[in-house]
Amino acid sequence: MSQKFTLAIAKGESFCNRTQEKKALSKSINHAEHTVIIAPRRYGKTSLISEVIRLNDYKHVWFDFLKAIDTADVIHVICKKLSNLIGQMTSDLNAIKGLIYKFFAHYKPEFISTIYGQSVKLSLQEKTASPEDIADLLLSIDQLAISLEIQVVIVCDEFQQMYDIDKSGVLQAAIRHAAERSERVAYIFSGSSRHMLEVLFMDKSKPLYRLCKIMKLDKIELEHYYDFIEKAAKERWGSVLPKQIMDEILVNMTELHPYYVNYLCMEIWDRYETIPSMEQVKIAWASLCEQIFPYIKEDVKGLSPNQKRVLKYLSQYPFGKTLDQTLLVEIGIRNYSSAKQALEYLKTKDLIYYSLKDNQYHIYDPLLRKYLR
Ligand SMILES: Nc1ncnc2c1ncn2[C@@H]1O[C@H](COP(=O)(O)OP(=O)(O)O)[C@@H](O)[C@H]1O
Ligand SMILES: [Mg+2]
Repeated sequence: MSQKFTLAIAKGESFCNRTQEKKALSKSINHAEHTVIIAPRRYGKTSLISEVIRLNDYKHVWFDFLKAIDTADVIHVICKKLSNLIGQMTSDLNAIKGLIYKFFAHYKPEFISTIYGQSVKLSLQEKTASPEDIADLLLSIDQLAISLEIQVVIVCDEFQQMYDIDKSGVLQAAIRHAAERSERVAYIFSGSSRHMLEVLFMDKSKPLYRLCKIMKLDKIELEHYYDFIEKAAKERWGSVLPKQIMDEILVNMTELHPYYVNYLCMEIWDRYETIPSMEQVKIAWASLCEQIFPYIKEDVKGLSPNQKRVLKYLSQYPFGKTLDQTLLVEIGIRNYSSAKQALEYLKTKDLIYYSLKDNQYHIYDPLLRKYLR
């Protein structure tokens, strides 16, 4: 069975295209330039970063801020993971002991031998470790990378969490301090709330303003998906799917959402021993919707009545920025400011977006739209 379609991180054989983005990202890493990747949930941000790291075998550390609780917790995790990173930066820790003592003198490095080899432990007073320690440690990692002549990648995924956790911006300021001075360490920030990331990186009053190149990930293009799916179909059934069926899967059903493309194709590829008919593809899609709708229902439950009204209306009739009385009546909301508030909330939650192609608001998730209709 082909492992082309996965609900986890896509890599190698299961990774479709993104050639330009892979090239741009590795170029930035090689120049120690920093990038913020912005795209809605499940467009493939984490997969793209992982694939670039894997293909180039970059030494790296991955911070997933989704799990972060508060600033003290973030500091603790960063410090711990950075000491692990030191151990990974070389295959011969003994040979660089001198460098480690030099750059990390404040942190009394200890070398621990296990059956897996040696590792480094920095003794940080974790409870008292401060944002300055973070800046200092990050800069020391850069010093070590310079001495070893290697590139290092620091990934800060789900970074929108910092919007709430680091309200004062002290941690962001510490990261900026180190990132601005770094010669060999590239920072990649990513996350799933476009709105919050845009505030963190594009608002003049924020510490990370203009630190990074901005990479906005679009959906994977149709033609690349054709090739990808043709190959997988040949592997599975020895022949390709008719174009009409591919279009039904990619354009009409999943609307090129990588997660749904993978989910649906997994269903189809698992279910059918011979090349499926349009009818069979529809059955697989119906089964997928049935599996996904309970999750969507949960998401919708948390919304206010006005937010639901706006979403429900948008699921059938996209509209533009002018909220006149007629439209308000149709949506079922009494006044302009309540409708505006609901729209803003849905935007910050990344449920809807304003398209410059047709100057209208739309719902991102095709299944959310289908559910609401
Ligand atoms: N380039 C790609 N090719 C094929 N599938 C992909 C690709 N990028 C992402 N996916 C799939 O899309 C889903 C979401 O990917 P993920 O990287 O977790 O997105 P994000 O980090 O933006 O939420 C997963 O099922 C993953 O396998
Ligand atoms: Mg992700």
